Amino acid sequence: MTRSSSTQMQPPDAAMPKHIAIIMDGNGRWATRRFLPRFAGHGKGVEAVRGIVEACVKRGVQYLTLFAFSSENWRRPEEEVSLLMRLFVTALEREVGKMHANDIRLKVVGDLSRFDAKLQGMIAEAERKTENNVGLTVTVCANYGGRWDVMQAVRKMMAAGYSASDLQGDDSEEKLARHLAMAYAPEPDLFIRTGGEQRVSNFLLWQLAYSELYFTDTYWPDFDAVELDKAITSFQQRERRFGRTSAQLTQLDHQKKAS
Ligand code: IPE
Ligand code: IPE
Ligand code: MG
Repeated sequence: MTRSSSTQMQPPDAAMPKHIAIIMDGNGRWATRRFLPRFAGHGKGVEAVRGIVEACVKRGVQYLTLFAFSSENWRRPEEEVSLLMRLFVTALEREVGKMHANDIRLKVVGDLSRFDAKLQGMIAEAERKTENNVGLTVTVCANYGGRWDVMQAVRKMMAAGYSASDLQGDDSEEKLARHLAMAYAPEPDLFIRTGGEQRVSNFLLWQLAYSELYFTDTYWPDFDAVELDKAITSFQQRERRFGRTSAQLTQLDHQKKAS
């Protein structure tokens, strides 16, 4: 497939996923394959983020959520962890102004208390600067874990005085969801994991309940707009039934068209 075919593959806006969530995996292996140190892969990974943000803006995606550092990634060698932190700082320094100019809203979610004061300050400033932007919302999950997210939601609810009886009604899941770190976004329509592994690695556990899952062997540094379009095309060929039957969906569709 040639690069130019990517625009022809570009699907109509109506079928565009509103929210795409990505586990950006494979930076280390991308580098090792080229006899380069792992950090070279992480550097390339930041470039790939730039390309995918741009592609999502062009395609009218509303939310892009990127897993950048998991609660478990602290287990990596100290040098790799500190390099990732430095990359995060430089990426913020370089990209926030451009993001703001492109009407992008930046959010960073996770347990940020473990980051140093400088990084925490930069994150707060970047979020404040872009908070009123209405284009693409880019969420970077940093020191994030799906289980952490559910736990912090429960803790918030307890602190707010919720009682067991508050959580008995039909709306109780909705009440919990409102306390999740990404309560401002709809659940992901499309989940992508690059790098060949087929697991969730403690990403958005609650919110992935009905997301369409897409796995590719492509390493994150090689994941470009053409690769993104392949994932979107795959998404568009799926039937999202949410527990219903196919026939029910057809009927609902007819009713919607008639009304
Ligand atoms: C993803 O790439 C980036 C982070 C987890 C920070 P990896 O660093 O996990 O790359 P592989 O999986 O070792 O190839
Ligand atoms: C998942 O990748 C986390 C991020 C991409 C930030 P990992 O490389 O850490 O996942 P595992 O260890 O292979 O499950
Ligand atoms: Mg990995």
